[in-house]
Amino acid sequence: MIIESSDQVPRTTLLKRFPVPRNFNVAPESRIERGRTWPAPVGATRLKAFDVYRYDPDADGNPRLDTFEVNLDDCGPMVLDALIWIKTKVDPTLAFRRSCREGVCGSCSMNMDGTNWLACTRFISDMGTPATIYPLANMRIIKDLVPDTTHLFAQYEMIEPWLQVKTPDPERERLQSPEERTKVDGYYECILCFCCTSGCPSHWWNGDRFLGPAVLLQAFRWLADSRDEATGERLDGLEDPFRLYRCHTILNCTRTCPKGLNPGKAIAEIKKMIIERQI
Ligand code: SF4
Ligand code: SF4
Ligand code: FES
Repeated sequence: MIIESSDQVPRTTLLKRFPVPRNFNVAPESRIERGRTWPAPVGATRLKAFDVYRYDPDADGNPRLDTFEVNLDDCGPMVLDALIWIKTKVDPTLAFRRSCREGVCGSCSMNMDGTNWLACTRFISDMGTPATIYPLANMRIIKDLVPDTTHLFAQYEMIEPWLQVKTPDPERERLQSPEERTKVDGYYECILCFCCTSGCPSHWWNGDRFLGPAVLLQAFRWLADSRDEATGERLDGLEDPFRLYRCHTILNCTRTCPKGLNPGKAIAEIKKMIIERQI
């Protein structure tokens, strides 16, 4: 399914899929403690509570969950608006990434009420009370809601995500027919937010060697491009028990993609191409 307008983005709060207590089996120094409750703004009548994960590597102490009362009459409708409101009006030390604020740059991905999504396309009205905001899971945290994506972008670089050709350059563009162009639909739209990879159990256990759904979807985007002439080399690089075959079709990735893409299908298509070239 390709989301073609913001009206199609699911607005209902999704079920919390992993109701295991956050601190279950966690080392004492990593347990999330109850943090500070910041007072509600004076005179505000329409308030919404946000429990926000805080972690400062330069301070002693465990991560904590701070509670902020956001004045909805003074704030935009999206979760990202609430975070900007908190940072501007209450605590300027709150760290999070954002750029485009319209679901294009992929930088504001985080875990909201138990679901990975983009803060700029999640309505506050779809959040529980209190709304719970954590960084993406299964990543080292730099500060507060900012995960370290160094490893994920190193994996992305491994698939050489650019057009590779062997034939001489034509005088003008390398053309595609409209039919060939549609083959990359559902793949070129990926914004590398890594909501899917953060939600993939196989990447939790084998993330050092399994490329994960975001990178594999991107790999298929180049395999599906009629102009690319490195199909054999690309498949050679992916045909590996860990890089590709640690995907067990659990499909958490497809369920959580805020762009409505289907990384599980892309991975299945790569496996199909590898089988077909053996026949
Ligand atoms: S389908 Fe594969 S890539 Fe997607 S969540 Fe499951 S194991 Fe991970
Ligand atoms: S496939 Fe979807 S969830 Fe995964 S990185 Fe791309 S846009 Fe984000
Ligand atoms: S700010 Fe760019 S996707 Fe949310």
